[in-house]
Amino acid sequence: MDFTGKRVLVTGGSRGIGYAVAEAFLAAGARVAVNGTTGQSVNTALERLGGGPNLVAAPGDIGTVAGCESAVQTAVDAFGGLDILVNSAGIGSGRPIEDSDEAMWDAHVDVNLKGTFFCCRAALPALRESKGNIVNIASDAGLIGVPGITVYCASKGGVVNMTRAMALEVAPDVRVNTVCPGYVDTDMIRRDHIDKKDDPEAAEQRMIDYAPLKRIATPAEISQSVLYLASFDARFITGAALAIDGGSTAGH
Ligand SMILES: NC(=O)c1ccc[n+]([C@@H]2O[C@H](COP(=O)([O-])OP(=O)(O)OC[C@H]3O[C@@H](n4cnc5c(N)ncnc54)[C@H](OP(=O)(O)O)[C@@H]3O)[C@@H](O)[C@H]2O)c1
Repeated sequence: MDFTGKRVLVTGGSRGIGYAVAEAFLAAGARVAVNGTTGQSVNTALERLGGGPNLVAAPGDIGTVAGCESAVQTAVDAFGGLDILVNSAGIGSGRPIEDSDEAMWDAHVDVNLKGTFFCCRAALPALRESKGNIVNIASDAGLIGVPGITVYCASKGGVVNMTRAMALEVAPDVRVNTVCPGYVDTDMIRRDHIDKKDDPEAAEQRMIDYAPLKRIATPAEISQSVLYLASFDARFITGAALAIDGGSTAGH
């Protein structure tokens, strides 16, 4: 896929899936603005990506409207417009319902759902002008219920259906799609869902067994689908939720 000259903003591009997306767009010729929570996390990512004129730092807290608007404005100002927005900034921790407090609810909904909405809102004028598109990163947990991560499911289910509504509202100018990954080998999974467990090896095995294809995905496997949905080849796709989950949402 060729994205030469395309102007891309990736929220949560400093690590994990977003980093792989930024790396893939860069390799395909795009100019990429990378967002993360702090200037430090973004600069570390830009160094890892090799630096250069096609990279722009766009830090900002996506859990706040001001942070979303600042990240988008930085990208639009640097590039003179925007063609593609990828919303990958997100958090995900699991807790039983009885242990889930207001702070946890607010943190998940603010970054995963509210942040995705307000980044889209901030980017729309530029995307309407370029006839661009948006790819949101939801989750297989936005398509089906998963016990133990109810708050995360609520935030990601919101992203899936928000994507549909938004796709209808901004068509035919702008396409909006979402990808729904299963378990992907990133800090989120290693740090929060494997290493913290009493038996990390058993926790990892449960994740491997969760997908009928019996493994955890790599970030690069998700990024390729993001690039496809953002590409000219996907020009008749909008409002879609593409599961990249090794079959975990196909049924039982
Ligand atoms: N990994 C999985 O198994 C999996 C499965 C399905 C869906 N997802 C979704 O995929 C997306 C990326 O997850 P990941 O696994 O790549 O996570 P990760 O490795 O933990 O990386 C999270 C990224 O989001 C950024 N971020 C978090 N909170 C932010 C905030 N308030 N403002 C700006 N940036 C923020 C982080 O920035 P810093 O570097 O500054 O912290 C980092 O770049 C998330 O939406 C997640 O829910 C992940």
